[in-house]
Amino acid sequence: MKKNLIIFGTRPEAIKMAPLVKEFLKHNNKFQTRVCITAQHREMLDQVLSFFEITPDYDLNLMKLNQNLYSLTADIITSLKPILEEFKPDYVYVHGDTTTTMAASIAGFYSGAKICHVEAGLRTFNKRSPFPEEVNRSVVGSVSDYHFAPTKISEQNLRNENIKDKNILVTGNTVIDALQFSIQKVTSSTFYDKEIENLKEIFNPNKKLILVTGHRRENHGQGFINICSALKQIAIKNTDVQIIYPVHLNPNVQKPVYELLANIDNVELIAPLSYPAFVWLMDKSYLIITDSGGVQEEAPSLGKPVLVMRDTTERPEAVEAGTVVLVGTNTEKIVKETTKLLTHQELYHQMSALHNPYGDGKSCERIVKFIEQL
Ligand code: UD1
Ligand code: UDP
Repeated sequence: MKKNLIIFGTRPEAIKMAPLVKEFLKHNNKFQTRVCITAQHREMLDQVLSFFEITPDYDLNLMKLNQNLYSLTADIITSLKPILEEFKPDYVYVHGDTTTTMAASIAGFYSGAKICHVEAGLRTFNKRSPFPEEVNRSVVGSVSDYHFAPTKISEQNLRNENIKDKNILVTGNTVIDALQFSIQKVTSSTFYDKEIENLKEIFNPNKKLILVTGHRRENHGQGFINICSALKQIAIKNTDVQIIYPVHLNPNVQKPVYELLANIDNVELIAPLSYPAFVWLMDKSYLIITDSGGVQEEAPSLGKPVLVMRDTTERPEAVEAGTVVLVGTNTEKIVKETTKLLTHQELYHQMSALHNPYGDGKSCERIVKFIEQL
């Protein structure tokens, strides 16, 4: 029996790895699968585990308030050693580009396991943007044995780095597997979610909803000040608009956002939402303004235009398809592009055309089949 250790630590990794955990557990006659969480995130990770009903086998419980990259990286590597030595996995699975991903891939490599990288091959070719993710995913790419690329573009990036074709599989993005699971669960007659009920109290169906999220490290400081200034102008100028912003728990985000945007009538600052509640709100939105990677992939599936508050993206597919526009953190540009989408119906309809370049919901099945035949 092949032994799998699936390691993750932050909210987006958990959302995108949850369907893989479930798929491997369906095949427990062939695989012994264990889950290890670093808990680089705590509350935001626990929200996801609870929705997907995943109980980790190991919980390193590493998050510290306003943690730094140096000690987090070191703590992850040292805390994984005893687990890797005791369980001796054949395969270690990591996702994407966080500090957990990078440190766990190195630890797994030290243990002698084969490293399997899910969401492999994304690149901006700018090592400072996103920071530190671009370097994290390049490091993971170089220690990985198997690369599960979400799209043809990410596959080509890996080929350009001389990764052999036989070690790359284009799978689609597992976020679509997660989204489909979530929509199915939320729409079942027995499902009740207190957060969705609370949101119904806040959400104003008579206004156009602009949903906002943001957290990127390279936007901390002046970037967030510019973003908040743009949101304030949009809210004040457009009284027919409601902005709902579930604010990331990072203190570098909480502080400017609550200082600059509290007490504006049509701006609702709320705590991070559970995954189903966030999906519910995305579906209700008119447009989304975000710097998130995952949200850029989900929104086109729901037919929602996205303005991305970044200068670079490793997800060019939706930009090429015209459903995503990069606006950076320039206040004027954010206001201008938002105003265009609020006033030009034709442009809005072009951008909201349903287009999903990121997968068909079967990515995890493909990954499991690939590992089965090794
Ligand atoms: C991290 C990842 C980023 C990913 C993002 C997803 C790194 C370097 N960054 O950024 O790639 O896109 O997660 O959201 O890996 N906090 C809480 N509770 C939580 C989560 C965070 O209080 O549940 C606070 C803590 O004070 C923590 C801080 O946020 O120290 C920063 O968390 P960290 O994971 O280091 O950075 P993120 O900005 O969340
Ligand atoms: N998300 C969530 N609750 C929220 C905001 C986002 O569940 O309040 C989900 C969202 O649907 C997406 C993921 O979190 O799947 C994105 O996480 P984040 O933006 O923190 O990280 P990134 O994708 O940029 O790495």
